Amino acid sequence: MGMSVDLSVKIGSKTLPNPVGVASGTFGYGSEYEELLDLSCAGAIFTKAVTLEPRVGNDIPRIIETPSGMLNSIGLANAGVKKFVSEKMPYLKKLPCAIVANVAGATEPEYIQVVKELEEADGLWGYEINVSCPNVKEGGLAFGTDPGQVERLTSTLRKLTSRPLIIKLTPNVTDITVIARAAQSGGADAVSLINTLVGMVIDVKKKKPVLAAKTGGLSGPAVRPVGVALTYRVSRAVSIPVIGMGGISNADDALQYMLAGASAIQIGTTNFIDPRAPYTVLEGIREYCVGNDIDTVDRLRGIIS
Ligand SMILES: Cc1cc2nc3c(=O)[nH]c(=O)nc-3n(C[C@H](O)[C@H](O)[C@H](O)COP(=O)(O)O)c2cc1C
Repeated sequence: MGMSVDLSVKIGSKTLPNPVGVASGTFGYGSEYEELLDLSCAGAIFTKAVTLEPRVGNDIPRIIETPSGMLNSIGLANAGVKKFVSEKMPYLKKLPCAIVANVAGATEPEYIQVVKELEEADGLWGYEINVSCPNVKEGGLAFGTDPGQVERLTSTLRKLTSRPLIIKLTPNVTDITVIARAAQSGGADAVSLINTLVGMVIDVKKKKPVLAAKTGGLSGPAVRPVGVALTYRVSRAVSIPVIGMGGISNADDALQYMLAGASAIQIGTTNFIDPRAPYTVLEGIREYCVGNDIDTVDRLRGIIS
């Protein structure tokens, strides 16, 4: 008889059933995976980005494989918030996992409007705010690179909702801990990290970048040590929970993040090659806890000093 492990994770006023989530942009809206995986093993589904207006995204090619990873420039392609609420939420809200809407925008009013419209949707667990988007009103610099903008955006959205508010940080900054603290000061319930790292691949025969958008976001196993190091640093800089991701493909990878200080994790790129990863990662975390006589996953957090 194995001992039972409390897998729940508290974030803000709510609780996730377990610490394993699936990352935005890598799991569609859940239904794409229902034949491949028992969705109840995912603690949370972080949806594809939701924007105010529908977006077709960037021109193709917009994905290329890289050593132990991939580079994408999808460009937040999605059907817009109205269709998300009317066409995706009715399915998502019936799932046994927490549904977290990943929200993106090009201006502050856009983020505000998306959250306002999502507040009307029942069955939504919370928000993950993608601040890696360029702010078109501030010269195109990403929101998430400026602590002042992050704090202001967070506190503005905080006033609109009592649902958990998670700020998703970009690693493309000089000091991510400054941005994490700004999110905490603005009233965030948690931060998640890392979003993709900016990268470029050049076709030397054609003498031009492979991606139509020239640069893209690097993800997959290649970025894992970066994600673990930044999770370690951020979890020591803030008192709110940290949700770690970047290159997680098995339970040991996930455990690295949790021992570094993450309260929960997300699986991204791996979903494309191993759709059962959320299940095997969760079972592996459970087994590790049992093997180490740990009765609640929360005790894994930050074991590394
Ligand atoms: C194809 C693709 C699309 C993505 N779309 C989004 C998105 O819409 N919003 C977002 O916040 N992150 C997006 N991401 C970033 C992932 O959620 C995650 O932060 C990143 O890929 C690192 O995790 P991984 O190495 O496990 O994939 C996307 C990643 C990929 C590969």
